[in-house]
Amino acid sequence: MNNIEEIVKKASEQIQKAQNLEAVEALKTQYLGKSGEITKLLKSLSEYSVEEKKKIGALLNCAKKDIEAEIEKRKEFFASFETEENMKKERTDFSSAFSFNFPKGHLHPISQTIEDISAIFKSLGFETAQGPEIETDWYNFEALNHPADHPARDIQDTFYLEGMKNLLRTHTSPGQIHVMENQQPPIKVIVPGRVYRNEASDASHSSTFHQIEGLSVDKNVTFIDLKSTLTLYARNFFGFDLDIRFRPSYFPFTEPSAEMDVQCFFCKGKGCGVCKGTGWIEILGCGMVHPNVLKAVKYDSEKYTGYAFGIGVERIAMLKYGIDDIRLFYENDLRFLRQF
Ligand code: DAH
Repeated sequence: MNNIEEIVKKASEQIQKAQNLEAVEALKTQYLGKSGEITKLLKSLSEYSVEEKKKIGALLNCAKKDIEAEIEKRKEFFASFETEENMKKERTDFSSAFSFNFPKGHLHPISQTIEDISAIFKSLGFETAQGPEIETDWYNFEALNHPADHPARDIQDTFYLEGMKNLLRTHTSPGQIHVMENQQPPIKVIVPGRVYRNEASDASHSSTFHQIEGLSVDKNVTFIDLKSTLTLYARNFFGFDLDIRFRPSYFPFTEPSAEMDVQCFFCKGKGCGVCKGTGWIEILGCGMVHPNVLKAVKYDSEKYTGYAFGIGVERIAMLKYGIDDIRLFYENDLRFLRQF
């Protein structure tokens, strides 16, 4: 009786391991065929008494059924692959074992902010231009009507390159000069890019940051055009429910000059820590292009007028995403970057 049990166990193991139909058929013959192990035992029943025949016969019939069931199960498993060819392929397809799920990256929050702002100006008819990060004094200061004693020219604020002839641009405004030198009005352009200031970094200062310069020059461009364009930008970017205001300001390259504030979007103008209790947040500098700037690029300042503006990208991104330390943008800590 033990022998029968062992045969069934061994047969089951072999059938479960069989790799194709032929192997299963061979096992069927080995156990249940004319001279198979179970068949032989059935044939030998005549040697036993009637009592034993009954008992052993019943056991052998059970064993036969068990082995047949195991064979059917294995055959069904093979049938679940449409063809044996498929089964072979299935069994040897290791592609998933060697494929890696490379994580997809995304744009840096500063790039995202530049794209969001650019998209709004694009919808208002502005083209995008690029300017060099290494500039001469002419482009960065002189042509932009900076007086010779302007504090920004100090090496405390500006990174001068060897020989003091070239410098790292301190703002994207020199982009205005390049565009006007290469193009006649009408001009409607934005110049996004990286700028440099020679200052120690802290939570709100960085020696490298980004700006978007804007310039529109044509006949009859007025302060109304400036206000309406920048109002549309602010409403689209910050929301239509927030108030905006223009405050008089000073920049050497614009006259008159202004700064634009948007109602604090954290407290909706009530006054909070972000807006330092004022209810307003400054979002850009702007003004009507100074006639001296138009003259510097040999435009007829009697014929043409224009407006310009400069947006600090980090500042906007920090406000939009509620970031309180500008240095987070440059540390490339994935725990920070993955949140955008
Ligand atoms: N260049 C200025 C700065 O870096 C920003 C700016 C202000 C640009 C007013 C302009 C403008 O074009 O009209 O702070």
